[in-house]
Amino acid sequence: MKDNSRDLMLADNGDEELSNHSGNPDFASVLEKRMSRRDIMRGSLAAAVAGVFAASGAGTALARPGFLPPQAKGRPPFGLKGELGFTPVPVSIADTTVVPAGYSAKPFLPWGTPICGHYPAYLEGGLNSGADQECQIGMNHDGIHYFPMGRGDKASRHGLICMNHEYIDQPKLHPNGPTVVNGVRVVEDEVRKEIAAHGVSVVEVREVAHGNWEVVKGQYNRRITAGTPMEIRGPVRGSDLVKTQYSPKGTMTRGTINNCAHGYTPWGTYLTCEENWAGYFTNKTGRPREHSRYGVRTGSTRYGWDSVSHIDEYARFDASALGNSAVEDYRNEPNGQGWIVEIDPFDPASTPIKRTSMGRFAHEGVVFAPAKAGQPLAFYSGDDAQNEYIYKFVTEGRYQPGRTSGDILDKGTLYVAVFHDDGSGEWRALDLRDPRFRAAAASAGVEFKDQADVLVNTRLAADVIGATKMDRPEWGAVHPQTNEVYFALTNNSSRGGASNPVDAANPRANSAFGHIIRWRERGNRPWALQFNWDIFLLAGPADDSRKLDGEPLDDTNIVASPDGLWFDHQGVLWIQTDMGGSQQRAEQGRFGNNQMLAANPYTGEMRRFFVGPLGQETTGVITTPDSRTMFVNIQHPGESGEVYPQVASHWPDGGNARARSATVIITKDDGGVVGN
Ligand code: FEO
Ligand code: CA
Ligand code: CA
Ligand code: CA
Repeated sequence: MKDNSRDLMLADNGDEELSNHSGNPDFASVLEKRMSRRDIMRGSLAAAVAGVFAASGAGTALARPGFLPPQAKGRPPFGLKGELGFTPVPVSIADTTVVPAGYSAKPFLPWGTPICGHYPAYLEGGLNSGADQECQIGMNHDGIHYFPMGRGDKASRHGLICMNHEYIDQPKLHPNGPTVVNGVRVVEDEVRKEIAAHGVSVVEVREVAHGNWEVVKGQYNRRITAGTPMEIRGPVRGSDLVKTQYSPKGTMTRGTINNCAHGYTPWGTYLTCEENWAGYFTNKTGRPREHSRYGVRTGSTRYGWDSVSHIDEYARFDASALGNSAVEDYRNEPNGQGWIVEIDPFDPASTPIKRTSMGRFAHEGVVFAPAKAGQPLAFYSGDDAQNEYIYKFVTEGRYQPGRTSGDILDKGTLYVAVFHDDGSGEWRALDLRDPRFRAAAASAGVEFKDQADVLVNTRLAADVIGATKMDRPEWGAVHPQTNEVYFALTNNSSRGGASNPVDAANPRANSAFGHIIRWRERGNRPWALQFNWDIFLLAGPADDSRKLDGEPLDDTNIVASPDGLWFDHQGVLWIQTDMGGSQQRAEQGRFGNNQMLAANPYTGEMRRFFVGPLGQETTGVITTPDSRTMFVNIQHPGESGEVYPQVASHWPDGGNARARSATVIITKDDGGVVGN
C-alpha cells in the first residue's frame, strides 16, 4: 500500500494522469506563427500573448491586453475603490501563516476536531478509530462556504460552515501508515477511518470574540463521507448505467469522493464537487468507455479499499464484471461518481443528491452567475485534468426567489466551451435534442443510447462536439456585479504536444505557471451561446508573466499555479495557489510556499495577502457577510511527510506533532473589512 501512497505523492496532491487521448481539434497553428513573430519582435512570451490580442483585430476592443471594457452600468465597483487597502506580504518558506500588518490569523477546525456524535477528542499519532473519525472534521480541507444563521449583525457571528475533505494522507492517518499484507488491507478499521476522513463536514460555529470562533454542539453538525447513501436525480436516475447490487433500480449510490472545490445555490444549499475519483476504482475485466475515458484503473486502487472484498461497503470499489449482470456486482459503481452533489446543511436528515444533469467529469468546483428572478440559472464548472474542458449548465426552469429548490437543477442543457483565437467563444450543447450534437456524434461514429448515456460519458460528448482542450480548469468565480466569469487554468505539462498545440486561450507550451482566463457572455446574458474572452493573468516569474496592465509580476505578487478563485462581497478577486510537491521543491526559493493574493478585476492590480505553512496548498476562502471574518483552508501541510528544503511541517500544533489541515480565521485587528 506504500505504493499507492507513493502514487499519490508522485501525482501531486491526488491529481490524475492525462486521460484525454481524443484527436480533438485545437485551433491555433496560425496563431502560433503569429506568436512566434511577435515573440521575436517583443522579446518575451508574455509580450507575445499581448501581441496576439492586439493582432487579431476581430472588431471587439482588442487593442489593450484585457480587452473586455468595464460595463457602463454599475461602476464603480462596490467597496473596491482605487488600490487594495493592505501592504503586500513577501513570499515565505516559514512553517506558519503570514498575513499583512494589522491582520491576525488563527487556526480553526483542524483535522480531527470533534463535531458530532460522541465528540471524540483528537489523539496525536493517528490513534483515533474509524468510529471517532466519523464524528470529527475530515482530512485535507478544500472548498468552504459559510451559511449565516440569524439576521443582521448576528448573521456574521453565527453560522454553518460546510467544507470539503478532498483526499487523505494515509501515512499520517494511522499510527504507522496503512497495514497491508500481500496487497490486502488487513485492518478493516483503517479503511473505515479512511472513508470517514473523506467527504464533507457541516459544523455550526459562533464568534466568541473578534477573530476567535468556537464549535457549537448543534443539531446541524454532520459528517458526510465516502460511504454516505446518496440519491441519484436528473436524467441518469434509473439508467442501466447506474444499476448496482446496492441499487438495482439505479436510484441510489454511496459516498462522495475527492471533493475539491465547492459551490452553493441561491436557495441556500451546498454543492460539493467530485474531482479525482477515478483512481479509487479498478476494473480488471475490461473497461467500458465510461471508465477508460476517466482513468478508472486496471490494477491496484489508490488506497486499496477494494481489497477488503468480504465487506460489500468496500468491495464496491472493484468495478470488475464479477457477477452475471450489473445488479449482481459493482461494474457500474464508478458511474455513481464524477457528479455535483447537493447537500442541504439546514436539514441534517436530508439525503445528499447527485445532480446528474450537470455532467460527469472531474469537477473542480461550480459557480453560478448572479441569479435574477424570472431568468434561467447558469452554472459553470471546470474539468480539472490536462486538456479537459470548461462546461456551463443552464436550467430549463426560471429562478423564482423563495420558491425555487434544487429540483430546478434536474432539467436543463449542458454546454461545453469552445474558445476561438479571435477572442470570441461559443457554448455547444451536449444534448441529443440538439441537431448539431446529433450530427457531430453521427459523423464521429459515436452512439449515445439516451441523454443519460451522454451525461455519464460527458467527456466523450465534449470530444465529439469539438470542445477546446484547456490547461487544467480549476476554480471559477463570477464577478457579482459585471457577471464576468474568471477561471484558473493551473498548469499543463503536456501543452504543446501534437494533439494539444498552444492556442490563444492556452498560450504557453509546457505551461508550468498557469494563467487566469475570463469571459463575458453575449448581451451579458448568462444563458447566451456566445461570449468574448481574454486573459486576465499569465502567472510566473518576472521574465514570464503578465498582468492585465501588460506589466510582469514583481515581488509583491509573483505567483505560480493559480487554483482557488473567489469574488468577495466587495468585488475583490482572491487567487489561491496549488504548486504541487515537485514544483514547490524546485521553486520554493522563488515562489515560496503556496499563497493567496487579492486582485482588482478592473485594474488588474494584485497584492500578496497571505502565505501558508510548508508543503500545503492554500485552497478555499469565504468571508462572513460583513466581510470582517475570512476563513481560508490549508490543505496537506507537510504533504505526505515530505521534507522540503527547509523542514517538514508541524503546523498548526508545532513541536513534533503531525501536521494537520485546518481552516485559518483571518481578521483585521481594527475590526474592519478584510482586504479593504
Ligand atoms: Fe483538487 Fe483541481 O484541485
Ligand atoms: Ca487539492
Ligand atoms: Ca483545486
Ligand atoms: Ca490544483
